[in-house]
Amino acid sequence: MPKHVVVLGSGVIGLTSALVLSQRGYDVTIVARDHVTDLDSQGFASPWAGANWHSFWDNPRTNGWETVTYRKLKSLIPTGMVMQLPSKRYYLYDAAEEIDKCWYKDLVDDFKPIPKSELPDGIASGVSMTILSLAPPLYLPYLQNLLLNSKAPHGKVTFVRQKVESLEQAAGLATGGVQVECVVNATGLGAKSLGGCMDELVEPIRGQVCLVRAPHVRTDMGVGGYTDGSCYIIPRPDGNCVLGGCQEVGSWDLSVHPDRTEKILKRAYKICPELSHGQGWEKIPVLKHNVGLRPSRKGGPRLERQGDFQIEGGKRSISVVHAYGIGPAGYQSSYGMAENVANLVDEHFGEKGRGSKL
Ligand code: FAD
Ligand code: LAC
Repeated sequence: MPKHVVVLGSGVIGLTSALVLSQRGYDVTIVARDHVTDLDSQGFASPWAGANWHSFWDNPRTNGWETVTYRKLKSLIPTGMVMQLPSKRYYLYDAAEEIDKCWYKDLVDDFKPIPKSELPDGIASGVSMTILSLAPPLYLPYLQNLLLNSKAPHGKVTFVRQKVESLEQAAGLATGGVQVECVVNATGLGAKSLGGCMDELVEPIRGQVCLVRAPHVRTDMGVGGYTDGSCYIIPRPDGNCVLGGCQEVGSWDLSVHPDRTEKILKRAYKICPELSHGQGWEKIPVLKHNVGLRPSRKGGPRLERQGDFQIEGGKRSISVVHAYGIGPAGYQSSYGMAENVANLVDEHFGEKGRGSKL
């Protein structure tokens, strides 16, 4: 019998985990309420990301995931799904020491401080490098396509649309009625209210962005140091740019705030007047105003295996691999987290002494 895993959640973490599991030979059933076909749904975070690879944490665990993901995403450039682009990080304060310690300065290409003479008005310091970006409306269907076309020796992948109440319910939904021994919990914010998980540390970080048309703007930019949110410009491979942003911890509000929109457009225009060919912030060609909730977790993301998860009234125990709470960094951590998930699934089957078919 091929080994079969249920992946609960079809955001970038669930999809990438399913992809790596399938590549390791596991059959996978992806169960989720929101799927790639629901790119307008605010029920999950993944459609609303920028999305660039730009690390902002200095933490060995998450930086490990980001390193793996950086290398993998870079290898996807020839597919057209990932774009390499120059990036400028500006600071409203003198960040010389911070820049000097930047953990990824040898990972990304072309990392160097920007000379003071080249900084825009009002900016105290800055650094330039080459980074990566992608467009979730293209990239998520790309991942789904890879999964749907998965062929032997890779495992077979099927999708089930269902909101589940508990991890135990998810374990019972494998395609073909297979009795699974392993469930991956990639439910993002859903982990807060999911039976068998109910993680009180899970919390949203509200993000509002403007999607604009600007194929001529091909430099990623950001400004650090605002006390009420960030300013960033993320050009995507499809010729659009995402202008952000805000990070409102604990807010579940899915509506667009016009005062925030004005702030985003004014700040972005200040560092990049080319957005409207110098015609003023009001003339930036906005396509859409988007709000998404980043699935965060106080104390950091949860990625671990719970090896003795009891089901069927204690008659059977399975492994649950939890993989949620990555907040603002899901794309740039996706492959690293997925490899970690697959290692924990391997560990489960290794422990059970089932002899791998892989
Ligand atoms: P989600 O995408 O939220 O997916 C959760 C899945 O679980 C969904 O399929 C949902 O339906 C399912 N689910 C939940 N509960 C249940 C249930 N009970 N039953 C069935 N299914 C359930 N990240 C970057 O790396 N770079 C960026 O530039 C970037 N920019 C961002 C900008 C904004 C404005 C926002 C909002 C986010 C940004 N992010 C960025 C963060 C990124 O979007 C998230 O980290 C990532 O999408 C999280 O993916 P996920 O799979 O963990 O969760
Ligand atoms: C965000 C990106 C930039 O969360 O990571 O807004």
